[in-house]
Amino acid sequence: MYNYTLHNHIHLSCKQHGLDLNGKDNLFYTRLIANTAAIRELYEEVYGKHPQKEILFDGLIETIIKAHKERPTALLKQDNKKEEKGNWFLSNEITGMSLYVDRFCGGLKNMPAKLSYLNNLGVNFLHLMPVFQSPEGESDGGYAVSDFRKVDERFGTLEDLQALQKKMLAENMYLMIDIVLNHTSHLHEWAMKAKQGDPVYQDYFYMYDDRTLPDQFDQNMPEIFPESSPGSFTYVPECKKWVMTVFHHYQWDLNYANPAVFNAMLDTVFFYANLGIDILRIDAPAFIWKQLGTSCQNLPQAHTLLRLIKQCVQVASPGMALLGEAIVAPKEIMKYFGTGNYTGRECDVAYNATQMALQWDALATSDTRVMLAAQYDLLQKPFGSTWLTYTRCHDDIGLGFEDSSITAAGFNAYEHRKFLKEYYSGVHPSSPAKGALFSINPKTQDARISGSLASLCGLEKALEQNDPLEIELSVRKIIMMQAQTCFIGGIPMLFYGDEAAYTNDYSYLNDPGKSYDNRWMHRPVIDWVKNQRTEVKGTIEEKIFSATQKLISLRKKISVIADRKNLTWLTPHNIHVAGFLRAWDNKKVYCLFNYSRKAAYITWYSFKEHGAVPVKLYDHWNDQRVTVGSDYEYLIIEPYSFCILEVVD
Ligand code: GLC
Repeated sequence: MYNYTLHNHIHLSCKQHGLDLNGKDNLFYTRLIANTAAIRELYEEVYGKHPQKEILFDGLIETIIKAHKERPTALLKQDNKKEEKGNWFLSNEITGMSLYVDRFCGGLKNMPAKLSYLNNLGVNFLHLMPVFQSPEGESDGGYAVSDFRKVDERFGTLEDLQALQKKMLAENMYLMIDIVLNHTSHLHEWAMKAKQGDPVYQDYFYMYDDRTLPDQFDQNMPEIFPESSPGSFTYVPECKKWVMTVFHHYQWDLNYANPAVFNAMLDTVFFYANLGIDILRIDAPAFIWKQLGTSCQNLPQAHTLLRLIKQCVQVASPGMALLGEAIVAPKEIMKYFGTGNYTGRECDVAYNATQMALQWDALATSDTRVMLAAQYDLLQKPFGSTWLTYTRCHDDIGLGFEDSSITAAGFNAYEHRKFLKEYYSGVHPSSPAKGALFSINPKTQDARISGSLASLCGLEKALEQNDPLEIELSVRKIIMMQAQTCFIGGIPMLFYGDEAAYTNDYSYLNDPGKSYDNRWMHRPVIDWVKNQRTEVKGTIEEKIFSATQKLISLRKKISVIADRKNLTWLTPHNIHVAGFLRAWDNKKVYCLFNYSRKAAYITWYSFKEHGAVPVKLYDHWNDQRVTVGSDYEYLIIEPYSFCILEVVD
């Protein structure tokens, strides 16, 4: 919407900065003018009543202009290329891997030499787990940042990170890092000043003189780490105040009701953008707004702030997409893509945490009905945005799907969840899995699950028992889980070590900085001698590596797998099988996954319920041609196996 005062003001600011509005800065200027009204409106929504709103709004505009001026030429070119492509992140040609640089290869300096390993696997997108300064022993795997701009010397230097980014750009690879938006380490400069009693910085956090308000907040705020960091406030003896610490006691929640905090963090967003980050992972966005009397999660203002970030990023670094790490209820996750006028204009990508958990549900129960029951919500994702799909990551598995999906599948929700927890912690007699419960809440008995992909699929136990059948089945499970993750739509993000069959690593128990957090059991230190076995035919490492390689190369080959909101779930008439159709233009691919220990029989009728009836299919996974039979005939899928069936002439 045109607003003379606002637009004139912006125009003058750009002039003052010496921008060449009709020449090289024209695209930026156009984007800024186009988004200004939205930026102002969103800003007003949150900060409209703040006494310093005008001066801080000017600061925000300055931040955007400065970001553009500092954007390196190579990235400006890259922005244009990406804009021409449209939503580049929907592509079926992108597959990622998430890794801790120190545990993967010692440090950032060694990373460029490891890109060939990733290329060989087919991975062309890297999520570096946090590398910015974070106090050892109180780091939450790097998510307690004490300096947002200084690479921690444990990992290397900023120059090392820049060198890696340059090499990746030259090799057409994409890079993702985190911005830990919700909190800082208690050793961050702002927190230190707050501890020393500086009221300006005390206002950067939620600080209280006594327990009155903390007690009121605590009544409605769920605990995130109830075992290791119960409650949501920590006493700070230096200034004799209570500070809000939703995660660990050493992670101080930032106060976004203060626009100075927003401006400072937006500046950090641009600092990362100008390093050449392709996707910025916004850590824990659900938590960034707090309000007494609420759970302090998923509040409307959190969405407004994310939208504001998105509109600003679109102006000064349009090539950088935003990923919202909102691991919340399915209906809530969806809102991170934006709603109303902002549908598709908030985060570009979100974790499909629901689907991930549903696959683990189906694997434990050999029953895909809960998965199917939950799909209605997931299909509401707007066109133009996409999922980050994953089987495992550095975090625990939360069974965050709705009780109603469990009930719809005919189970008792409490008993069902209890079974899943017992199954994956290996307590249930029928379970081949070796994992552990994470963050058990003694009040609610809620718990999440830790464990590596391989161990949760039964490989660790099968190896201990030297049981060839169970080894074979666990390998199949690993591959099938990854296959569904690769074909369901979205960017698959592998977790390092999973491609080479790493089982749980219990050495974290000997490190006091880690022993309180069993998520470290599935964050391996890579042993490159073991990884060489990925090249030795017949080893477990090779079987899993080469299967992962094949999945990625098939994904790249089959264009219909790109996420164009082109997924239809099948009714496989068999509760052990999950199946969907991916269709676009005149291409159709049926993907079916058998979650059972026995062969599954699928009536050919299942293939005839969605448009033109196919006659001939090509199974890309099993490399064979298949003819569609009569309704009383069956497609047979091996135990824990799958088919990727393309309709052919
Ligand atoms: C995110 C991270 C997790 C971390 C938390 C707090 O959920 O993935 O590892 O503990 O944020 O920063």
